Amino acid sequence: MDLGLSPRQEMFRDMVRDFAEKEVAPRAAAVDAEARFPAQTIRMMGELGLMGVAIPAEYGGAGADTICYVIAIEEISRACASTGVIMSINNSLVCDLIYKFGDEEQKRRFLIPLARGEQLGCFCLSEPDAGSDAGNLRVTALAEGDHFVLNGAKNFITNGKEADIAIVFATVGRHLKHKGISALIVEKGTPGFQVLKEESKLGIRGSSTCQLLFEQCRVPRENLLGEIGEGFRIAMVSLDGGRIGIAAQAVGIARAALEASLEYARGRVQFGRPIAAFQAIQFLLADMATRIDAARLLTYRAASLRDCGAPYTKEGSMAKLSASEVAMWVTTKAIQIYGGYGYITDYPVERHFRDAKVTEIYEGTSEIQRLVIAGHLLG
Ligand code: CAA
Repeated sequence: MDLGLSPRQEMFRDMVRDFAEKEVAPRAAAVDAEARFPAQTIRMMGELGLMGVAIPAEYGGAGADTICYVIAIEEISRACASTGVIMSINNSLVCDLIYKFGDEEQKRRFLIPLARGEQLGCFCLSEPDAGSDAGNLRVTALAEGDHFVLNGAKNFITNGKEADIAIVFATVGRHLKHKGISALIVEKGTPGFQVLKEESKLGIRGSSTCQLLFEQCRVPRENLLGEIGEGFRIAMVSLDGGRIGIAAQAVGIARAALEASLEYARGRVQFGRPIAAFQAIQFLLADMATRIDAARLLTYRAASLRDCGAPYTKEGSMAKLSASEVAMWVTTKAIQIYGGYGYITDYPVERHFRDAKVTEIYEGTSEIQRLVIAGHLLG
């Protein structure tokens, strides 16, 4: 069993780390404080192939594997978790989805600019009354000639404000339950499609989270992904991959908090010694590092299964469950190590703590991950 990275993966990691340290990290505090979308950074990331890491070059991507993808998400999120999630949604829930379920024409038309980072995508599944219960959608897509007509509201849509392309899940008939859900590609500017509200959030404040409204929004039939009624499966398969990305985001946030804690513990002197000399602090640092490594290994395992073409739903959920809870634990302890300084905005750990929380919620709460894992265990 080889747990090491290949030379190509190491080179890729070094490239992304260098970029993240030079271009992403210096902007992270302002992106958070001003809730500012990092447009310039996202443009540069597109040029580096980071907006479509695992998409083949012929469709505008970097042609790398899922391990490279999680490496990239960890490095970017270590620098700025807002930038990490913008990237993760575009890669996992938009580009991978179109690559897997789109026809050739949809790939040429929509995937290439998205994977190149020339356009940005969002994934519209959640609704005001359908969060964890994603099969119970109310947004309707009624067939009318060569169009579908969308009506209803979508909630908590990451990238909702900036996205050029929205993947919208809607039902062709609620009586069909999840078998009525269909996936459509909707372009920004389509009449009847509007951003209703942008949420003000605890963390990942540089990414937009929006409510979207569809009113008599006519979408050409050629924008249907897969078959009518295949949308729920498309959403679930895409979330399987997305959850590996969020696991990597959580690992990146936790690593940032550990690294800040190490630096602080070496420099902060109390009772005549750096606090790193006290076992109380050393034990915390040791537990933080151990839990982060365990979460990363679970994340790499899920990514590696995906690269081999093996099933990875359970392992992706395990990675997300573990990494998000580790991120919350590590960032809480980081604030404890900093003491009062951890609670003020002059230091980065309070941002890491706020950013970590959402990893236990989006792309399936920790409770949903436990349900998925238990479902696989019990058969
Ligand atoms: N892959 C393929 N198919 C799958 C699947 C998977 N991972 N999971 C379920 N399915 C299929 C089942 O096989 C079943 O198929 P059949 O109809 O052919 O039998 C069908 O889907 C229904 O499955 P379930 O009965 O298990 O469905 P359910 O209604 O009980 O829901 C659930 C299961 C796991 C709870 C699911 O609803 C779920 O994942 N909920 C959480 C939703 C979520 O993660 N939302 C995140 C929003 S997106 C987001 O956060 C993005 C953002 O912008 C940040």
